[in-house]
Amino acid sequence: MSSYDVIIIGSGPGGYVCAIRCAQLGLKTAVVEGRETLGGTCLNIGCIPSKALLHASHQLHEAEHNFAKMGLVGKSPSVDWKQMLAYKDDVIGQNTKGIEFLFKKNKIDWLKGWGAIPAPGKVQVGDTTYETKNIIIATGSTPSTLPGIEIDEKIVVTSEGALSLPKIPKKLVVIGAGVIGLELGSVYARLGAEVQVIEFLDHITPGMDAEVSKNFQRILAKQGLGFTLGAAVQGVETAKGKATITYKLRKDDSTHTVDADTVLVATGRKPYVDGLGLAALGVSMTDRGQIATDSHYATNITGIYAIGDAITGPMLAHKAEDEGMAVAEVLAGRHGHVNYGVIPGVIYTHPEVSSVGATEETLKAEGRAYKVGKFSFMGNGRAKANFAGDGFVKILADKETDRILGAHIIGPMAGDLIHEICVAMEFGASAQDLAMTCHAHPTYSEAVREAALACGDGPIHS
Ligand code: NAI
Repeated sequence: MSSYDVIIIGSGPGGYVCAIRCAQLGLKTAVVEGRETLGGTCLNIGCIPSKALLHASHQLHEAEHNFAKMGLVGKSPSVDWKQMLAYKDDVIGQNTKGIEFLFKKNKIDWLKGWGAIPAPGKVQVGDTTYETKNIIIATGSTPSTLPGIEIDEKIVVTSEGALSLPKIPKKLVVIGAGVIGLELGSVYARLGAEVQVIEFLDHITPGMDAEVSKNFQRILAKQGLGFTLGAAVQGVETAKGKATITYKLRKDDSTHTVDADTVLVATGRKPYVDGLGLAALGVSMTDRGQIATDSHYATNITGIYAIGDAITGPMLAHKAEDEGMAVAEVLAGRHGHVNYGVIPGVIYTHPEVSSVGATEETLKAEGRAYKVGKFSFMGNGRAKANFAGDGFVKILADKETDRILGAHIIGPMAGDLIHEICVAMEFGASAQDLAMTCHAHPTYSEAVREAALACGDGPIHS
């Protein structure tokens, strides 16, 4: 029987990053994965394939809307959907094979199959039971649906089915104006579908800074996405290849229906821990069905740890990766640590939206005195040249000390721009530190510096 220092169950961003770090730190490591390919939801049916479709559909948008303005004339390209899906599948393949290569390079064993934990120190995969000093559960999450809705992944789909639809729907109804709904809604709107987003709350993207959320909705509406807010979806019926969605408006309790070719249910995700045998082991769970862990990712059972979407915190690939590295360090006798105050969030629409740290709403709730430095991309030369003037950078800093408390960006490359602010926050920087740092011209990142200047004596270009 093979034995290991650590067996990780799940090869998503949490699991595979953890495995590589464990191997680098000298631990004999194996990963259990039941899928045909490594990389979990993120690489196979999540982040990576959705970014491929967002990229392709954005190129079409550019050709249709901006090429002629730049003197690039001719017929706009038409969509070969089969080829677009093939491109997406190729991107998945390159990424998942990359992880396989990294496993070989780091001498990590892939135990193929679905894992269970018959007892502490043991992991069962098929008919084989492996001995291990430590077990790390990195099994991720799965879409959660609503009562009254049956997912068939054909007409009524989750993010998984939405990445492989047989054809582009004429009418797509998206339930939930969160990250998944808006990213995939954008893809199909750009490809010509009529998209209607139905959201329970009175605003989109819960938890986002309210000013950014409002602007974001306005920009998406300009791109053709329709929004029905304050509406609780009650159920979805399918017949003859079509769906009828019933929802209730919260303001007057009136019931409405809408028809669609495809319905995307994007109402959140839940931890995936089926088949592991956690109940029999007595592993403590939170009341939201997550595995309960301490600050070192240890469960209440000695030698069993958990990270990523299966535990508390934002369900983000990079949060899982950081936890994977931290728990590896803990097992190797070091001091693994994740700063949950500085975890960026990104929505990969166009423009992108990113955020880190506090929002105005959370600061108000805390009663903390703060100042706001804001700068519009309209004042940024590079953005103007690239038809990317929609949006702004907003930095929130402590009123007394000028320490950066949070930042919110809607605009071009927002998902990349946020990171200089993350680094600044990790160093406890003030807005003035950012403002005094030379930024190359002409770049989008000058808008970040201008927002930092706006926290002090004022920006130059507005
Ligand atoms: P979400 O939690 O972001 O949004 C779900 C939305 O559905 C909420 O706005 C909620 O109010 C709404 N909703 C719930 N019940 C409803 C009902 N009956 N009728 C109408 N609306 C209803 O969940 P989402 O978008 O499914 O994403 C799941 C997770 O995956 C999130 O944690 C997200 O952060 C993560 N993710 C992150 C990505 C990124 O970082 N770019 C990309 C995709 C997913």
